[in-house]
Amino acid sequence: MAEFEPKIIAFVCNWCTYTGADLTGTSRIKHATNVRIIRLPCTGRIDFMLLMKAFARGADGVIVSGCHPNDCHYTSGNFHARRRWILFRSLLNFMGVDARRIIFSWVSAAEGAKWAEVVNTAVKEIRALGPYDEYKNLAPIRASWRTEHAG
Ligand code: FES
Repeated sequence: MAEFEPKIIAFVCNWCTYTGADLTGTSRIKHATNVRIIRLPCTGRIDFMLLMKAFARGADGVIVSGCHPNDCHYTSGNFHARRRWILFRSLLNFMGVDARRIIFSWVSAAEGAKWAEVVNTAVKEIRALGPYDEYKNLAPIRASWRTEHAG
């Protein structure tokens, strides 16, 4: 039987992790191919609904990664993201999403090898958790999102 291949969405900041992930490629460092990257200006842009939408659309796991503390190009976006995460955790519990499915990391533009490690570790951990089928319970979120963007 084929091994479960998790679908993982990575929300990364443009300035550090995205560039670090690019360095992974240009350095020809191999890593798992389960991750699809969504580039944002800063991790400070990430809100709870963005993460829930990823699950509602079939992701098995999510990576959030940005600049190291004190290196954010917008001064404090990563600190805002970290503070929001504390709030997210209790909401995830309420929504029935296992918090282990969301992985936070700091990866700088010079850390291509670290990005490969983050990806490989995330794939291994999410694979161990199995497929995220509970996303069907997030149907009301999907419905409200569709209504918001209809037009
Ligand atoms: Fe990278 Fe803010 S610009 S976390």
